[in-house]
Amino acid sequence: MQITITRTTTPKAKPDWKNLGFGKYFTDHMFVMDYTDGIGWHDARIVPYAPFALDPATMCLHYAQETFEGMKAYRHEDGSISLFRPLENIRRLNNSDKRLCIPALDEEDVLQAIRELVKVDADWVPTDYETSLYIRPFVFATDIGVGVHPSHTYKFVIILSPVGAYYPEGVNPVKIYVEDEYTRASIGGTGFTKAAANYAISLAAQEKAQALGYTQVLWLDSVEKKYVEEVGTMNVAFKINGTVITPALGGSILPGITRKSMVELLKYWGHPVEERKLSIDELIEAAQNGTLEEAFGTGTAAVISPIGELYYEGKTYTINNFKTGPLTQKIYDALTGIQWGKTEDPFGWVVPLETK
Ligand code: COI
Repeated sequence: MQITITRTTTPKAKPDWKNLGFGKYFTDHMFVMDYTDGIGWHDARIVPYAPFALDPATMCLHYAQETFEGMKAYRHEDGSISLFRPLENIRRLNNSDKRLCIPALDEEDVLQAIRELVKVDADWVPTDYETSLYIRPFVFATDIGVGVHPSHTYKFVIILSPVGAYYPEGVNPVKIYVEDEYTRASIGGTGFTKAAANYAISLAAQEKAQALGYTQVLWLDSVEKKYVEEVGTMNVAFKINGTVITPALGGSILPGITRKSMVELLKYWGHPVEERKLSIDELIEAAQNGTLEEAFGTGTAAVISPIGELYYEGKTYTINNFKTGPLTQKIYDALTGIQWGKTEDPFGWVVPLETK
């Protein structure tokens, strides 16, 4: 793919690497490519980061035909930069797009676009351990008009943001509210995709939980409100009686790449791990009888995030004395060790980038 590069003439000042927060700063450049029916994807370009001018009738603004991804570039101690399982994200983007009638992207073209963009903005990849450059590819419908049908034109864009921890708690335990009123996704819907609309749907519950002092919501299935699904910003896993249990993917849960890596790591270590249905009753019973030993979330933004408290039906359940459990810490250390190049990568997950 031919990518034209126009460099900014007014580079921005870099933020303080020690106080990045999450998703607050954006780099000097972005990647943009257009799609037109009959032509396909065309005009791949890296341009200075800037706003788009959108007609008020642009379709994505009305019917949410939009998908996105989240991945990271990591700075290793020797100064090199690498990605983590990027093809997994690119394939998931195409799966999301298929569900939303958005035309497929060529996997190698997307990887090339990420490589070239990170290379152009390489000095924005922060240097401290546990900081990274968050990569946000997204696709949106650009046809102009009111009327519900798949767009005939789209934009594929990649923006970059140097980030620290997603939660203000950092890597300390978060408090999670088990949501038993609203639901996030149903079988046959878009729960397995990163459709932007999935996140809009989650906001009312998140607001409610946050008003009660909870960081995020744990979703239950939409039919019986019986089975644990995911948190919305991360997948979840629970260590009950020595075994790590994570809800099986069934169409309504996002197939997280950190989740998949966590399961593969546990299998590699020979640690018992099950992907299966987990009812809220089984979880609460384990919390009550002391067999719920640890709980954590997994996600690109959240990494491995310990869960220290659950709220369900008016009661709170503290997990592991609100401390990060030893297995949670071990998974966090192993995963971040591989991502930041501190430990060997026996799986071939790390993809080095050329930066010169
Ligand atoms: C990610 O983990 O990359 C996500 O896209 C979650 C998002 C809510 C920040």
